[in-house]
Amino acid sequence: MKLIDGNLVASEIKKKIVEEALKIKNERGRAPHLAAILVGHDGGSESYVAHKIKDCAEVNFESSLLRFEDNITEDFLIEEIEKLNNNPLVDGFIVQLPLPKHINEQKIIEAINPAKDVDGFHPVNVGKMMVGLPSFISATPLGITLLLKHYNIETAGKHCVIIGRSNIVGRPLSVLMSQKDINSTVTVLHSGSKNIPEICKSADILIAAMGKPGFVTAEMVKDGAVVIDVGTTRVPSDKTKSGFKLTGDVDFENVAPKTSYITPVPGGVGPMTRLALLYNTLKSVKGF
Ligand code: GUN
Repeated sequence: MKLIDGNLVASEIKKKIVEEALKIKNERGRAPHLAAILVGHDGGSESYVAHKIKDCAEVNFESSLLRFEDNITEDFLIEEIEKLNNNPLVDGFIVQLPLPKHINEQKIIEAINPAKDVDGFHPVNVGKMMVGLPSFISATPLGITLLLKHYNIETAGKHCVIIGRSNIVGRPLSVLMSQKDINSTVTVLHSGSKNIPEICKSADILIAAMGKPGFVTAEMVKDGAVVIDVGTTRVPSDKTKSGFKLTGDVDFENVAPKTSYITPVPGGVGPMTRLALLYNTLKSVKGF
C-alpha cells in the first residue's frame, strides 16, 4: 500500500505556479488575480474561502474577497458578478456555494463570464470539457487527475468506479476518466444504483464522492485497487480543537491494507482541490 500524499504533490506543483506567476508579473506588470464572492456566514464556506485567499498569497497571486450579507437580492449579486466580468484587473473569480435559498444558484453560475469561471461550473465550460475542448475543469476532478498522473497510476483500460454523480465532482470526473488521455472504462454509481458493493469490488480505481463517512468498507474493495476518497464530512469530535474531524467516505483503517494506492483524509484530495483553483487561475491568464 502506498499513501498518495496530496500535500506533497500540491506543494510541488505550487512551486511551478510561483515561477509562472512571477513571469506573468514581470511581463504584464501585475500578478494573476483571483476574486471570491462570499454571501452570508456559513462556517464551511468561511473556511474554504479563507483557504483560497491564503493559497493565493502563497503563490504570489493577488486576491480579493467580496463579502455580502445573506439578505442580498439575486439581482444585486448578478450586478456584482457583472462588475467582476468587466473588471480587467480580475483574471478569474468564484462565487462560493451554497448560496442562500432565495438565490437561484444556476442563474448565478450562468451570470459568470465563462472566460473567468475558474471553478469550471458554467455550462459553457462543462460542455467544452464534455467534448474534450480546452476549458476550466472543476477543481476536485482536475486535482484527482493531476494526482493520478503524478503517481503514474495506470488508468488505460482500467475499470474506474465513481460513487456519486454531483455536478462538481462525480459527473465531470466520469467524463475526464473516460477521455482518451486517461482511457478508463467508467461506471457511475448513485443513490438509485443496485448492487453497489459488487460493482465497487470490480473497480481497479474506486473513487468515493458521495459524502457518507466510512461508506466504503474492506469487503467492497478489490485487492490491489487504487482508492481515492473525496469525502470531507465534518463529524463532531471531542479530540480536536475545532470540535469536528474531517471524515472520508472510506473506512481507511480497514481498506488501506488491501489497496495499491490510497488517499488519506485529510491530506489526499483536499490539497489538490485547493491547488486546482490556482492552476485554473493561472490558465485564465495564460490561456489553455
Ligand atoms: N462549495 C463547495 N465546493 C465549492 C467549490 O469548489 N467552489 C465554489 N464556488 N463553491 C463550493
